[in-house]
Amino acid sequence: MRGLEGKNVLITGGSTGIGRATAIRFAEEGANVAINYRSSEKEAAITLEEVRETHSSVRKKGRREMLIQGDVAREEDVKRIFAGVLTAWGRLDILINNAGMQTESPTHEMSMDDYDRVLAVNLRSAFLCSREAVRHFLDRGGGGVILNNSSVHETIPKPHYAPYATSKAGLGALGRTLALEYAGDGIRVNMVAPGAIETPINQEWTEHHAKKTEAKGHIPMGRVGQPEEVAAVFAFLASDEAAYITGQTIHVDGGLTLYADFRTTWSSGS
Ligand code: NAI
Repeated sequence: MRGLEGKNVLITGGSTGIGRATAIRFAEEGANVAINYRSSEKEAAITLEEVRETHSSVRKKGRREMLIQGDVAREEDVKRIFAGVLTAWGRLDILINNAGMQTESPTHEMSMDDYDRVLAVNLRSAFLCSREAVRHFLDRGGGGVILNNSSVHETIPKPHYAPYATSKAGLGALGRTLALEYAGDGIRVNMVAPGAIETPINQEWTEHHAKKTEAKGHIPMGRVGQPEEVAAVFAFLASDEAAYITGQTIHVDGGLTLYADFRTTWSSGS
């Protein structure tokens, strides 16, 4: 894709799932890839090695990759992550706010600790990282790209996951606000909204045949998505092919947002 070769990208929560697939896809496109991870150094080292192998398999000589530890919900960690990338590489071109988590509980039983943690990891983190990225983009001039991994739950309600749905709606609002605020500075901000993707966050159904079959039944295309299918959209939106797109949410959901219950006619008589 045009315009990714040689660019520096930072992916938060980039060692697993969609983040990992995105790191590999950007390496295929010839980008330098910084992978943030929170705690599992071993897991992150495996992803780093995959990105390194991808760089060498596509013969992108001189391309770089790095791991950078930090909890993106914490301001001091985010400052350290950005300082680390900028000290090593001198500039950042693309930020992907990917880190995320969810907890399940009926709302009336949810603790404030759980609520606050989901909001901090999914939304506060994106604010903190976007603020650092924008500061850098404005300082060096020439613009930049910020992409948020939101969810179909940016718009679809999710009972028992109130903080998750709230955080993802917030990510959309944050992204559109920054897109408008900095459009004149050449900074583009967009959201990728995945549906049901086969990653560790969905272990609850990915590892259970019956639950996975049930999940597929809700999806108009009749299958769950793969992380690589989301990564491809991140690559497109970061590339020059998307140079005139800002403030948008692109759903990657097999039709989940198409009101699947209307697949058959039931709401009006014939
Ligand atoms: P995942 O669980 O593999 O990825 C989440 C990553 O975020 C993990 O690597 C985790 O360690 C990291 N992370 C969590 N808290 C962090 C923190 N405080 N600091 C740094 N990293 C942290 O699952 P997946 O699916 O790849 O999730 C990635 C993003 O995609 C999340 O934001 C999730 O909400 C979003 N998403 C996923 C969907 C799916 O069906 N898998 C659907 C819609 C959105």
